[in-house]
Amino acid sequence: MSDRSSLAVLLAAGEGTRMRSGLPKVLHPVAGLPMIGHVLASAKCAGIERFAVVVGPSAEGLRAFLAKRAPGAPIFEQTERRGTAHAVLAARAVLSEPADDVLVLYGDTPLVRPETLARLRAELAKGAAVVVLGFRPSDPAGYGRLLESEGRLVAIREEKDATAEERQIRFCNAGLMAFAGSSVLDLLGAIGNANAKGEFYLTDAVEIANQRGLAVIAIEADAEEVGGVNTRVELAAVEAIWQARARKAAMLAGVSLVAPDTVFLSHDTVLEADVTIEPNVVFGPGVRVESGAVIHAFSHLEGARVESGAAVGPFARLRPGTALGPKAKVGNFVEVKNAEIGAGAKVSHLTYIGDAKVGAEANVGAGTITCNYDGFDKALTIIGEGAFIGSNSALVAPVTIGDGAYVASGSVVTEDVAPDALAIARARQVEKPGWAERFRAFKATTARKRV
Ligand code: UD1
Ligand code: MG
Repeated sequence: MSDRSSLAVLLAAGEGTRMRSGLPKVLHPVAGLPMIGHVLASAKCAGIERFAVVVGPSAEGLRAFLAKRAPGAPIFEQTERRGTAHAVLAARAVLSEPADDVLVLYGDTPLVRPETLARLRAELAKGAAVVVLGFRPSDPAGYGRLLESEGRLVAIREEKDATAEERQIRFCNAGLMAFAGSSVLDLLGAIGNANAKGEFYLTDAVEIANQRGLAVIAIEADAEEVGGVNTRVELAAVEAIWQARARKAAMLAGVSLVAPDTVFLSHDTVLEADVTIEPNVVFGPGVRVESGAVIHAFSHLEGARVESGAAVGPFARLRPGTALGPKAKVGNFVEVKNAEIGAGAKVSHLTYIGDAKVGAEANVGAGTITCNYDGFDKALTIIGEGAFIGSNSALVAPVTIGDGAYVASGSVVTEDVAPDALAIARARQVEKPGWAERFRAFKATTARKRV
């Protein structure tokens, strides 16, 4: 990482009208994280230290998100939309502070890689005053064209201002640019708005820098990496690319994905080596799965830690606050919430465990329910180590089942059970010999025929 000081200005003023949404565009999530969160993470990973964000009017939700994810980053409002250079200049107050590298990033371009931002910075370190990120889209319509000569970037021509010949150029401006901090304000200040749109184009900095004898170059990125999001169709396309990247990275890091295209990861999913994920598994945020664990098909996990050698599913749901100890087992049609399941414990079938602690090696029978909620408060169920809960039991919290205790099947347990005791909390069975035979005989003489 470089020891040069750095600032990134994130443009997040996009109106997002084509998203048809009440949510600011850059807050739409990719892998569960708002797009602008991806850009921030990527920039931090590229060693960028300081951030400033330019937002549009009525961006309360965005301000709240930034307060969490980029605390201390000044936020500037661009009240009138007068072009990309005008937007960057809204952050003039921070641009006038010294920085070696100034990057202009877009909150709606979430797939940009840290390596690419580092390449932009490396060119500044080599002496360029302006570095532009270029790409070759399959259809260049609408993009600014990069006019090069002898390896130098001479100008960026917006499509509306381009000649027919210039429009033939396929190398296009992705929008992301890097400036030497020493000249950025001077260059931006010199930009005018005499063009087809009457806007202050950031891209005009290229020609101005050339006129001043400064070095300007373009570097190339994959088209996939610089795709911006304007509609929900593009949002879904970006999500698909993000997922494909994350699945590949997980597999290369030692995770087995039996059917990778059917597994959906979250921006913060942590899967250790030698984890196996079967088909059709969805990870919400905050999941960590440790080495040797298996997530069987059709499971949904969120806010959960699965320790080594544990097994989940098929068809299991782990909700926030779940912690499965080593070699614990959560089987089919089991829901776990805010509960620790100890090492080697088994919760194999058709069960709800919420607000609970299940001790190591305990066995929770099919159909067990922790009754954790009375309509007002949540209460805790504790199941001791090695305890055995018979099938179809209801454990009415707060309640503690002692270590090694048994609960008879079908019990409704409302009081604590001592260690190693047996609790039977159901009506005693009554048997009436010959009753069925007498019943049938009676019906044969009196029952009306069904019509
Ligand atoms: C811009 C580039 C073009 C490039 C393309 C890549 C300029 C002049 N042109 O064109 O060379 O190929 O992006 O997608 O920079 N914005 C503001 N305030 C404004 C205007 C824009 O915040 O006043 C933001 C937009 O919300 C958007 C970004 O800047 O996130 C780009 O603006 P947009 O109007 O989409 O520029 P393009 O015409 O696409
Ligand atoms: Mg655009």
